[in-house]
Amino acid sequence: MACETFYLPTVIYQGIGCFEQLGKVAASHGRKALLACGRHALRRAGILPRALELLSAAGVGCALYDQVEGEPTLPMVSQGIALARDQGCDLAIGLGGGSAMDVAKAVAGLLPLAGSPAEYLAGRKVERPGLPFIAVPTTAGTGAEATKNAVLIDPQQGVKTSIRHDSWFARAALVDPALTLHAPRAVTAAAGGDALCQAIETYVSIGASPITDALCEDALRRIGRSLVRVCEDGSDLAARADMLYGSLMGGMALANARLGAVHGMAHPLGFRYNIPHGVICALLLPHVMAYNLPYATAKYARIAEILGVNTSGMAAEQAAEAAVQAVAEINRRIGIPATLRGFGVPREDWPAIIAESLPSGSLKANPRPMQAEDVQAVLEMAIG
Ligand SMILES: [Fe+2]
Repeated sequence: MACETFYLPTVIYQGIGCFEQLGKVAASHGRKALLACGRHALRRAGILPRALELLSAAGVGCALYDQVEGEPTLPMVSQGIALARDQGCDLAIGLGGGSAMDVAKAVAGLLPLAGSPAEYLAGRKVERPGLPFIAVPTTAGTGAEATKNAVLIDPQQGVKTSIRHDSWFARAALVDPALTLHAPRAVTAAAGGDALCQAIETYVSIGASPITDALCEDALRRIGRSLVRVCEDGSDLAARADMLYGSLMGGMALANARLGAVHGMAHPLGFRYNIPHGVICALLLPHVMAYNLPYATAKYARIAEILGVNTSGMAAEQAAEAAVQAVAEINRRIGIPATLRGFGVPREDWPAIIAESLPSGSLKANPRPMQAEDVQAVLEMAIG
């Protein structure tokens, strides 16, 4: 007997200009918002000032936490919680990329709970819902606007992992492609590489279902035709829209079907060698695909087709290999390194990287079962 569930309680506002609804949407969920975002980019782009105007016009107070830089960390979450408690916030808004959304998501989820954020990242169960959380993505990559987990770094313990709860889905997500126009090329490439990776990993994951397959296929169609384009010309709004909707659909799918070995290995590698999440995911993707080939042949063959490879006359195995090549070619064109060679990943670190990868839920959802020797084999391939 099979019984898959698909759950997404988020109201998604979508379309160019839907950001203008922020005040109205926020007012329906609370009276004072903790707004988490980065330090400079959104201010310069005029997005943060407009968000503050929209909230104010709707009568929603705002406590601004604008210290989210780089990957999201526990100290950012603790600072956000302290500010939100001090200011009496009853709502959190994440405005930015995956980092800002995950910090806001964790602030909302953990604020009413006893215990420190570190305890929850170490495995303490989240037992009840937190504050409402609203997601406003300004990059196209993580799909965090549609997922129930926050990925965080604990600098003291030296770990990067996630806290999750069914109540942590955003109450509302404002998915406005115009907000992504300002993202610089490097950010666009890394985030887009993550979006491509998430759609492919979820498509072949052991938790995939007809619904997640449909989402992943359309995500791949959009990302496949627009990722290189958006890196070449960031002002192409149609391509930006493809990327943002592709990223959203990948997020909706992964929240229900889980990911794969790339994401299982990306957290320890990214944290140890300070590699942005999107870069390490995109870099590992063709290597993991090549390792998975015999376990996901039909779906990889379909990916080749979706990515525009002419597969007519090819055997499934050949078409599946062509998908690996197509992904490697996209990486080359958007400037993702092909191997780990330049990042200094010494062999003496491999046992720790392998040990940290193995407990990952993503790794367990990979179509090819992954034991220590399998993770090592992928590292051998990726090191170049
Ligand atoms: Fe990711």
